[in-house]
Formats: sequence, C-alpha cells, structure tokens
Amino acid sequence: MKSSGLLVAREVTKVFGGNRAVDGVSFELERGAIGGLIGPNGAGKTTLFNCLAGHLKPSGGTITIDGQDITGASPASTFAAGLARTFQIPRPFPQMSVLENVMLAPRGQLGERFWANWLRPGAVAAQERQTRDAARHWLDFVGLSALQAQPASVLSGGQRKLLELARVMVADPRLVLLDEPGAGVNPALLDQIVDKVSALNRQGVTFLIIEHNMDLVMTLCRPVMVMAQGQLLMQGDAEAVLRDPRVVEAYLGDAV
Ligand SMILES: Nc1ncnc2c1ncn2[C@@H]1O[C@H](COP(=O)(O)OP(=O)(O)O)[C@@H](O)[C@H]1O
Ligand SMILES: [Mg+2]
Repeated sequence: MKSSGLLVAREVTKVFGGNRAVDGVSFELERGAIGGLIGPNGAGKTTLFNCLAGHLKPSGGTITIDGQDITGASPASTFAAGLARTFQIPRPFPQMSVLENVMLAPRGQLGERFWANWLRPGAVAAQERQTRDAARHWLDFVGLSALQAQPASVLSGGQRKLLELARVMVADPRLVLLDEPGAGVNPALLDQIVDKVSALNRQGVTFLIIEHNMDLVMTLCRPVMVMAQGQLLMQGDAEAVLRDPRVVEAYLGDAV
C-alpha cells in the first residue's frame, strides 16, 4: 500500500507474556509534523517508541520510514535510517564531559571501523573534527555551551533533556522521537525545549513526542494521538482530542 507518511506503522503489536502492551497500532506521521502521543501511564507509549526505534522487536506489524522497512531493525539501523529517539530518563555518562556525551553517537562514524582506521587515518581525524564541531553547534543551540567542559553529572534533570536533544541532533536525524521531554523540567527550561523543538521543526525535522504536560502538547503537537491499554484510541487536534469523552474516560480510568 502506498502512503505519504514519513513514519508509517501498521498493526504494530508487542506482547509481553500475556500482556498486549502495544496492540495493533496503526498510524501515519506526515513529514514536517510534530505529532503528540498521550495516554495514561501504562498505555504502551514507551513500548511503542521502543518498537519504532528498534529497542524492542515488535511481535507483529510493520514500520517504515520514508518507505524503508525498519521493522525489527536494530537501534543502530533505525538511527542510520534517520530516526533518533531520546529516553524518558536520560542517563548521560556522568564522568564524561557534556561535550563528550554529545559526541557519542554520530551517524556512520568511520573511526569505529578497523579498515577505515588503517586505510584512511586522515578521514578519521576529519570525521572526529566534524563531530566535535557539530557537537559544539548543537550544545550552543540548546544553550549548554558554557557547561561543555563540565562532567555531565553537574546537569539538572532539565539540562539532561537538552543534552539528549543536542546528542541526537548531531546525527542529523529526519525524525526525532522524544519521550516525555517535559518531565521533571522547570517551566523556564520547558519553554526553551518548546522553542528548540519548534525551531528544529521549521528547519524540517519531524517529531513524535510523548508528553503528559498538556500545555506543551497543545502548543506544539498536531496531530495528537491517544493510546490507552495498548491501542490507539483516537487522533486529531489537541482541543478535539482532549474534549473527547473516550479520552477523558481513559484518563479517569487511570485516576490521573
Ligand atoms: N520490558 C517489559 N517487560 C514486560 N512488560 C513491560 C515491559 N515494558 C513495559 N511493559 C508493560 O507494558 C505496558 C506498557 O508500558 P509502557 O509502554 O511503559 O507505558 P507508558 O509509556 O504508556 O506509560 C505496561 O503494562 C508495562 O508494565
Ligand atoms: Mg512511558
């Protein structure tokens, strides 16, 4: 079936034992969108992200990015296909500097390959320099330049979220999945994250964002998809979705 979406999920399912954590989820995310993914705790949102980014193999269904089948591919392969994700709880290497943390995961790093090291030392050095420049650029973009030489352990929760954003941007992704970028972030930093995501989106990056902060969702996300008990309950504009009785019920059922 032909589809125009950058990210297309068809009947994606993940079963843990008898628990259908993700249960036949289908959607299309258009190029240039900032999609939102909301739903009560335990709805399956993070598990769906893990399936999309390759951290878990789906039990069923298919996932494509720009028409390329990435179903069951490794995180390195989905990353190479242009899909980057951040984690609900970022865990930077605490002893490494902020800059080194951002330099960790560039796409197609030549230096990791024996032959490249042996045959093309100049290319490796150039790649290293390029990665460092990109890391500096993205640290500047998220406002963490002043802390680049500090160990990552000095960063607050909100700053760790910004570090994650800088880290994934080094790889020049087409699609970024953010898992609760607003969780544990103070309001000033949250505004910064919203601004940074909008700016990147204007530069052509597509986003899918899991978030509980409805202000952030209303400001940034269109469309908004709602998951409950592993299934996609509905999708649409934030206002319509949050007014929908099925969505209200899903949240009340969880006593949020
Ligand atoms: N690795 C795992 N092994 C077993 N069950 C899991 C695992 N990860 C998540 N689950 C279960 O899958 C369901 C969905 O969890 P999750 O995707 O974290 O929800 P959400 O991110 O929407 O809060 C929950 O019932 C959770 O306990
Ligand atoms: Mg989650």
